[in-house]
Amino acid sequence: MISYARQTHEEQPDASLPPVEEHIAPAPRVSVQAFCETVETAAAVQSAGEDRRLGKAHLKIQMGGMPAAIEAYRSAPTPNVIVIESDGRNDLLGGLDHLATVCDAGTRVVVIGRINDVTLYRELVRRGVSDYVLAPVGPIDVVRSICNLFSAPEAKAVGRIIAVVGAKGGVGSSTISHNVAWAIARDLAMDAVVADLDLAFGTAGLDYNQDPPQGIADAVFSPDRVDTAFIDRLLSKCTDHLSLLAAPATLDRVYDFGSDAFDAVFDTLRSTMPCIVLDIPHQWSGWTKRALIGADDILIVAAPDLANLRNTKNLFDLLKAARPNDRPPLYCLNQVGIPKRPEIAAAEFAKAIESQPVVSIPFEPQIFGSAANNGQMIAEISANHKSIEMFLQIAQRLTGRSETKKQKSSLFSPLIDKLRGK
Ligand SMILES: Nc1ncnc2c1ncn2[C@@H]1O[C@H](COP(=O)(O)OP(=O)(O)O)[C@@H](O)[C@H]1O
Ligand SMILES: [Mg+2]
Repeated sequence: MISYARQTHEEQPDASLPPVEEHIAPAPRVSVQAFCETVETAAAVQSAGEDRRLGKAHLKIQMGGMPAAIEAYRSAPTPNVIVIESDGRNDLLGGLDHLATVCDAGTRVVVIGRINDVTLYRELVRRGVSDYVLAPVGPIDVVRSICNLFSAPEAKAVGRIIAVVGAKGGVGSSTISHNVAWAIARDLAMDAVVADLDLAFGTAGLDYNQDPPQGIADAVFSPDRVDTAFIDRLLSKCTDHLSLLAAPATLDRVYDFGSDAFDAVFDTLRSTMPCIVLDIPHQWSGWTKRALIGADDILIVAAPDLANLRNTKNLFDLLKAARPNDRPPLYCLNQVGIPKRPEIAAAEFAKAIESQPVVSIPFEPQIFGSAANNGQMIAEISANHKSIEMFLQIAQRLTGRSETKKQKSSLFSPLIDKLRGK
């Protein structure tokens, strides 16, 4: 079998989605042209083109398979990627030989085919085909294949972006994002960075007891200077594995950003940091929406009341529609059990959202209050507090990792490796 073995996972009921452990890095700005033979494949490629991970790629789809491709490139230059569907009726290998004579150097070819046969694979490899995907294909198979062409198997450190947002202000989303990031760094031993996107009022600096002279504002206000070295200088180190890209938390400027203002910062962080936790303020603007939709995983923090329920539902609906090939967002309840406050029960909340909360974190003003005022994490104040286990659970669900588990070898070894192993 050349198709990628799907990992079964108890929280992964939908087989058309990638498993939680799998991370598909977004493709760069490349041109892709697909030549399909069946409408099913054309439809899958079409929706792959709408996936967030191919947001920068330019995709063109036409019918006609190999003959159409050969015809098209007789005169026109070839794109970065050619996807060719072969339903087995045409001579695939002969066609590839022909295509090779008109292909520009550097163009990569992906074949979608129905034949599962090792001799055929060998011939494809010999002809330099980059990937062979067994039909029928779903959108995520196409996304995976194309993105994988541009992320080397060694590039395991390609970062996963986790966005955390509150369903309302003050529900504890920053507190939870900071404690979860801390758990990711300490218990999962993943290098992580917290980016505080609440530029005016962010508390990450206070919570980690850091007062860096510069931070995210320096990057977002000078996008032309943003590169790995520049961002590195803006990070302040909180623990061995945890860094902070702090908010200025000053009001001398206003922070009216365009929707892609943070793109360069995120792309740069992604290229060096395995895990990027975005602490997103509770607001709805072009850039917050874009940060949420573009994230690899999302955690919504909600308090158990009606407004939170409505807002969580709205966020779920919007994000699920905008990210059809991703697992739905996760959410947790927080500040549960405030004395005398009427609450919506977790079960009722779950029914309305059609998804269970990852955890329900109790309202504990004493310990959360001390942590906030002392600039410490909950685990630093009380090593056995019950919320610590919950932060770890969230961390595991978001990263797909269990405690200090060794990183799995990439599912995306080159085609030849996949053949050898089978
Ligand atoms: N489970 C909890 N119990 C008690 N206080 C909490 C809890 N979670 C958060 N808080 C407190 O609630 C306040 C708002 O938290 P914050 O993380 O800034 O919210 P948000 O980022 O959603 O606006 C903070 O003072 C924080 O210490
Ligand atoms: Mg906040």
